[in-house]
This record gives sequence, C-alpha cells and structure tokens, in this order.
Amino acid sequence: MVPNYTISEKAQHFLDLEDQFGAHNYHPLPVVLTRGEGVHVWDVDGKRYYDFLSGYSAVNQGHCHPAIVAALVEQASRLTLTSRAFYSDLLGEYSAYITRYFGYDRVLPVNSGVEAVETALKLARRWGYAVKGIAENQAKIIVCAENFHGRTLNVVSFSTDPVARRGFGPYMPGYEVIPFNDLPALARALQDPAVAGFLVEPIQGEAGVKVPDEGYLSTAKQYCTDANVLFLADEIQTGLARTGKMLACDHENVRPDILILGKALSGGMLPVSAVLADDAVMLTIKPGEHGSTYGGNPLACKVAIAALEVLRNERMADNAREMGELLRQGLRDIDSPYIRIVRGKGLLNAIEIGHDNPDAAWDLCLALKENGLLAKPTHGDKIRFAPPLTITAAQINDCVGIIRQSLEALS
Ligand SMILES: Cc1ncc(COP(=O)(O)O)c(C=O)c1O
Repeated sequence: MVPNYTISEKAQHFLDLEDQFGAHNYHPLPVVLTRGEGVHVWDVDGKRYYDFLSGYSAVNQGHCHPAIVAALVEQASRLTLTSRAFYSDLLGEYSAYITRYFGYDRVLPVNSGVEAVETALKLARRWGYAVKGIAENQAKIIVCAENFHGRTLNVVSFSTDPVARRGFGPYMPGYEVIPFNDLPALARALQDPAVAGFLVEPIQGEAGVKVPDEGYLSTAKQYCTDANVLFLADEIQTGLARTGKMLACDHENVRPDILILGKALSGGMLPVSAVLADDAVMLTIKPGEHGSTYGGNPLACKVAIAALEVLRNERMADNAREMGELLRQGLRDIDSPYIRIVRGKGLLNAIEIGHDNPDAAWDLCLALKENGLLAKPTHGDKIRFAPPLTITAAQINDCVGIIRQSLEALS
C-alpha cells in the first residue's frame, strides 16, 4: 500500500524545476528543504523534520554548527583560494593539525570523497612500483564485493552494483574483487606478489550498513602487513565519530596505511576530503604528479580545523556510541513484522524491511516524512538511520515513536 503524502504548490514548483532542468541521476524524496539547525531541517512550508540521513553522514556535527559557520564566514571574507601555485597561511597549519589529530606523517588534501579514493589508489599503485618493486603496469588492488567508493569511471570499474556500472565500460583493469568479511578469500588474493593494496570500508555504508565480524579488520590488516600490501581504509562515511569512535578502524585498534576521509571533514559546509599516510607512502608522489585546483584551499582548511575541533570538543564519538545503542534498542523493541533486521554501530544504522511489496522501504520513508523524519532507502529494502551526532536521548525516543507510528501506517 502506498501511503498518501502531501505536497504544497510551493514545494511542487521546486520539484518541477529540478525535474525539468536537472539531470535525472537521483530519485529524491518529495520534500524541499530550506533551512537546517542541529538535528533538524525545515521544508519550504515551515514543517520541521528530524534529519536521519545527515547528508549521507556529512553533517555529523549537526546542521549549521555555529563554530563551523563562524570559521567559514570569517575565512570567506579574508581569502578563499590561492591554488597550490603559492603557499597559504592556512594549509600548513591545517596539515599539522590533521596529521597530529590522526597520527600520520602527511596529508594530501582534496575535495570530494571519490577524489580522495582516487588519490589513495594512485598512491597505492605508485608505492607498489616505487617501493615494493611491482613490475610496470602490473599493480593490483584488492577490493570487496558490494563496495561503494564513489562514482568515477575508475571507481565504478570495480563496483559490483550493476546499476552503478552498466553502460559505462570499458572498465579500468587492475582490481580483484573478493567477498567482504571473508578472511580466507583475502589471504588467497594476497598471495599474488603484484598486489599493492587492499581497499576496504570498515563498515559497508551504501550496501546497507554491513558490519563485519569482530576481528575482521585487525586480522585483515595483519594479513596485509605480512604480505607487504597497503591497507587502505575508506572512512569517508564511517569516520569522524559516526560509529562511536573517531574512526571505525579504532574499534579494532587498526591503523590503516592509507586513511581516506571526506564528508564530515567540513561538517557539511563544502566538499573537503583528505588522504593521510606516512612518508614512505606519501612521498612517492612528486610535484606535478597529482593535485587539484581547490585541494587544500584556505577556506576548506579553516572549516576542516573547526569541524574536527567540534567533533573532539563536543565528545561526539561518545554521544554517537550511547545514542546508537539507545536507537537500536528502541528499534528492536518496536518488534514489527516489517523490520527484518536492525544493525549498525554508533549512529550508523540500518533496518531491512521484510515485506512482499518491493516498494515497502520507499513507502515507509514517505510515511516517515509525513510524520516528521527524513530517511532514504538504499538498495531497495534497506533504510539507513544516521542522524547528526548531536542528537539527545529524548530526541532518539521521539524518533523511535515516529518510526513505530509510521510502520503502523504501512500495515
Ligand atoms: C565509503 C564511501 N566512499 C566514497 C564515497 C564518495 O564520496 P563523494 O560522494 O563525496 O564522492 C562515499 C559516498 O557516499 C562513501 O560512502
């Protein structure tokens, strides 16, 4: 059953504009947002919602966090872009700040998440040739089935999602796909001496918040070290306090050889991403061999420092851990026949809908929207629940009530 949803003439106008003039590469929920503050967003008709997507985990610090806005505004009126042709008085400061924050020798600043993934892959290949001694053009990277690392041609080349891949060939060679959370498969793949790196999401976000078995990450890291292969952690979605630790790898005390960050690195203000590594890896790339016009711009540096400070000062990892437990318990207590599985870590969670209707997850999201909570299905039957990390216990309980009420509307 498709629940009714309401849309005002005003909102319909904005839907129509996007529909008429925009590319049709997204399928948004019919809600038009105009303002955000903390865990809430408001639509053009003034209705308030809980944001349970947080810009796909880019808004961990909450919408329009005042400290990050202040950094953005102050810097925007001073200096925004120098390009890397010159030094700025912020890139060095930011580089020192973020490398100390995460404990690496160096950072390579870029913009979007996928750009950071591409950067990490280039670094791994280059290290494979320059340090490991892999024969020219033979370097291989191991990746996991059901991965999501972004949308470039290279990255969709090793996607296993037919929707992301189909019609975009020819595909980039040099990748081997193994099942996620499968250590024997990793051990077998690592036997090839041409392997330079293993790229993994510590929790597979887009696949529906697939949490690997405890010990998977630490053993995988050990296997990589033993095989002289770099361990590349894509923490673009899982990192920055989202799962209840600063990094999802921290749950198993794993230190990636290459750490990839994005999304909440700017608290949702602008695209900012970063790759962190030690000298032996990072210094294999020389001037002229990689870069980006906006990478490391002063505005991004200032905003990223503020975004990282907020995460630490406001103990957002601790709150994510506590509120995540409360949320999962609340969801399990609902005991609805439609919720097949509840899973997650910290405030990165998902439910799987068990229903004959293939549109049930979409219909539930429409019902949630009507009741004041925004969430989006992923891969048909899964819905991610990932609010900003500033959410309180009272708000979690309120949201569980909304989810319960919306599930009742489905039946
Ligand atoms: C794990 C992971 N890697 C990479 C990306 C790509 O990031 P962006 O959309 O900023 O390119 C995403 C985005 O959802 C992601 O979740």
